[in-house]
Amino acid sequence: MITDRQLKEKWFKFFEEHGFKKIEGFSIIPENDPTVLFTTAGMHPLVPYLLGEKHPAGNKIYDVQRCIRTSDIDSVGDGSHLTFFEMLGNWTLGACDKTEMIKLSFEFLTSPKYLGLDKDNLAVTVFAGNDVAPRDEEAYKAWKECGIKEIFFTSEDNWWALGGGVGPCGPDSEMFYDTGKEKCGENCSPSCDCGKYLEIWNDVFMQYVVKNSGEKAQLLQRPNIDTGMGLERTVAILNGAKSVYDSGCLKRVIDFINDNANVKYNDSESSVRAYRIITDHLRSSTFILGDARGVVPSNVGQGYILRRFIRRAINCARNIGFDSQLFAGIVDLYVDEYGQDYSDINSNRQFIKEEMLKEVAKFSKALDEGHKEFDKVINGIEKHKAFASKSGEVVENIIGGKAAFRLYDTFGFPLELTEELAKERGYQVDKQGFDQMFKEHQEKSRQATAGMFKGGLADTSKQSAYLHTATHLLLAGLQKMFGKDVVQKGSNITPERLRFDFNLDHKMTAEELKEVEDFVNNAIERKLPVTCEVMKIEEARASGAHGTFTNKYGEEVKVYTIGDVSKEICGGPHAENTEQLHHFKIVKEESSSSGIRRIKAILD
Ligand code: ALA
Repeated sequence: MITDRQLKEKWFKFFEEHGFKKIEGFSIIPENDPTVLFTTAGMHPLVPYLLGEKHPAGNKIYDVQRCIRTSDIDSVGDGSHLTFFEMLGNWTLGACDKTEMIKLSFEFLTSPKYLGLDKDNLAVTVFAGNDVAPRDEEAYKAWKECGIKEIFFTSEDNWWALGGGVGPCGPDSEMFYDTGKEKCGENCSPSCDCGKYLEIWNDVFMQYVVKNSGEKAQLLQRPNIDTGMGLERTVAILNGAKSVYDSGCLKRVIDFINDNANVKYNDSESSVRAYRIITDHLRSSTFILGDARGVVPSNVGQGYILRRFIRRAINCARNIGFDSQLFAGIVDLYVDEYGQDYSDINSNRQFIKEEMLKEVAKFSKALDEGHKEFDKVINGIEKHKAFASKSGEVVENIIGGKAAFRLYDTFGFPLELTEELAKERGYQVDKQGFDQMFKEHQEKSRQATAGMFKGGLADTSKQSAYLHTATHLLLAGLQKMFGKDVVQKGSNITPERLRFDFNLDHKMTAEELKEVEDFVNNAIERKLPVTCEVMKIEEARASGAHGTFTNKYGEEVKVYTIGDVSKEICGGPHAENTEQLHHFKIVKEESSSSGIRRIKAILD
């Protein structure tokens, strides 16, 4: 048996031996990124470096990154899809030697000193070519030389880009473990989801960039390699397990539920699925609630996804006769497991449990009533159908937008939960009708969330960089007024505005807001230079730079200084001089969550 930790250690040792330097993973909530809600891959926080900025740790780096992918939510319940997972990543910045990377990947996978997998159990895919880039002959040749027999070509599945398609991108080569299952048909390949091939690692050759949405990819001046291995899946195959839930902490959680639920794990396909959804979703929720950026369940942004995770888990718990109060016990299992590596969830253990149970209390009460309402809606349609069939009228199995909205608004059913319950009964939901109702109730913020998924990459345009600089000035102004204990609790930048969360125990008065605004505008008028230095983390600390000091001793970081006003550890990018910001205006100050205030501001 191999554990998660042992696999991480192998990864660290292997890349250390090959001249790569370890960097710390990032928060699960991206900073200064208007287009995505969560960190979805190890490369995500590294975009500025993939676009050419110099990384303080050098041009060969590796890490382990906690990721959330909501796109996989509907597949959770099978043996391999997770909304939260840890990604082992490594990067070569400014160079793209495919043959070298493929040979390194092969060595790590097959060498008895590392994973020791039989090469005949491996299959790979290679880019087949499209109108941007040719078929990847180099990757094909390299895999052939390694002795891999099963090599498949695709163009769609072998092009990697962030969600919205904007940013660094390129052809990739994916590695699969052949589980030995029968082929599902003559054309069975890693592209089908029959379960024969399980993707474990992806080498992306980031040779291109899409600068703006809809534009064609252009060659990057400095190409890169970005690779990511799924930790849980790799551990599962190394242990010969059927699913990612068969070992380690996920197994302990399944066992805990099994000991306390009326319906047992293996009773039926649907009980297996319910157990896995609870296990997966509560791990994601633990990491979101535990993040230093302080997200709690709500109807917008990350808070909405968190709410969906917890409410879906509560619904599954109801189906298997498991008391949702015991979610706190599951949080404990996760914090015990991950607290050592992720100190934020460790220090927030109590907070995570409290917020989780608050959501349980809110939803559990309405859940039974909501189910009754849901049944009523279905029965109504069925009656109508029986009646209509006599006259030859056809009634479709569709739950109207109004009913779906009532379930949302009165009983707290996230739309996706209603859709899921509907699907189980052979029904669909009129989403457009739901949206219409939603609009009528002027809850625009929730729609903004849906829009966010369509986007992709952090906006690295100039305007965002200026707003980012304004954020540093704002923090300096707040610290001047309220003392150095005020720290950043969250930040989100769109090209139009900045949003900044910080700790403060009261609503700011109009005078206080004016004073902070004047402080920032004064710094803008003084035309202060913005400079960047790379230094060791301990030097940064000694220099009085602000920032979260989670980095390792000896690690190098970037410190941005704005004249005599601000000094912060930060990845950039920023304005070159404060005069580029023109004028700063606070448009809103409000509560974000308990003890946390939120400021929205613009540059006009
Ligand atoms: N960024 C690549 C992925 O997530 C490695 O698959």
